[in-house]
Amino acid sequence: MILEALQHFLTPAAKEIKALGFVRESIAIEARYKRCRRAWAGHLDKCQQHILAAAADLKEKATIMIIGSGALHDAPVDELLLLGHRIVLVDIVHLAKVRRKYAQHDQITFFDHDVTGLIKPLFEWQEGARCPIAAKTRNKLSQINRAKIDLVISLNILSQLPINLIKYAARRHIPLPNDFESILLGDHLDTLRVLAPKHLIISDLERQYWTDGDAANREPALPKDICQRLQNPCDTWDWNIAPKGELDKNISLLHKVACWPYPE
Ligand SMILES: C[S@@+](CC[C@H](N)C(=O)[O-])C[C@H]1O[C@@H](n2cnc3c(N)ncnc32)[C@H](O)[C@@H]1O
Repeated sequence: MILEALQHFLTPAAKEIKALGFVRESIAIEARYKRCRRAWAGHLDKCQQHILAAAADLKEKATIMIIGSGALHDAPVDELLLLGHRIVLVDIVHLAKVRRKYAQHDQITFFDHDVTGLIKPLFEWQEGARCPIAAKTRNKLSQINRAKIDLVISLNILSQLPINLIKYAARRHIPLPNDFESILLGDHLDTLRVLAPKHLIISDLERQYWTDGDAANREPALPKDICQRLQNPCDTWDWNIAPKGELDKNISLLHKVACWPYPE
């Protein structure tokens, strides 16, 4: 706990990124990964296999953008580098461990970026001002030349995009539209289409809370209209994200994860 607090203090990030909890969360994910490595192995392997399959028919020295790169547990970075590809890593937080490993690598570019464009407008919102979604900053990702990226991967980030924003808005009583989640996720899907001719989306679809002997309590991870837009996934699997004892001594949390390649 003390170590995590120190790491939070020492991790360089803009104050709005810390205020909305992104650094704390990245540190917590890393700690959970260390505790739950075995339970996560099947999910991480599935993600890596789908990414390698999507990259299999790319031309030599292609450019791959990974959005939601984070700590890179689910990304087969070394294999992609061996194939000669260039990789652009996009996330709001890249912890020191990941930076140290790849900082000197000339095939890798780190792009610390808020893909929603809403973190700063929410943080700077003042009582009586218009809804911050109207002040959304232009997504720098869509300004990247489409011809330069061959494959873009949205990696376990889609369902995560609204979570911290909604929590922060609730804390400060910032008004958000009822369809905020759909607007944000729809915008992300539009951006993927603009960025590259080929994309791959990996996201959780459903969260299941299991107690011994009971049927699971289930909640959708994505709004209905976004599921309809994505249509049928090419594969689904379970991610035992928090085995019993992790969040609660009696309950385990399982994510139903899915994968959508484009074009199929
Ligand atoms: C579940 S993690 C993805 C797992 C990650 N690939 C790993 O192995 O650690 C979701 C990621 O989305 C990132 N993220 C959430 N909101 C973001 C935003 N607005 N802009 C950019 N990245 C964001 C988080 O920082 C986190 O790294």
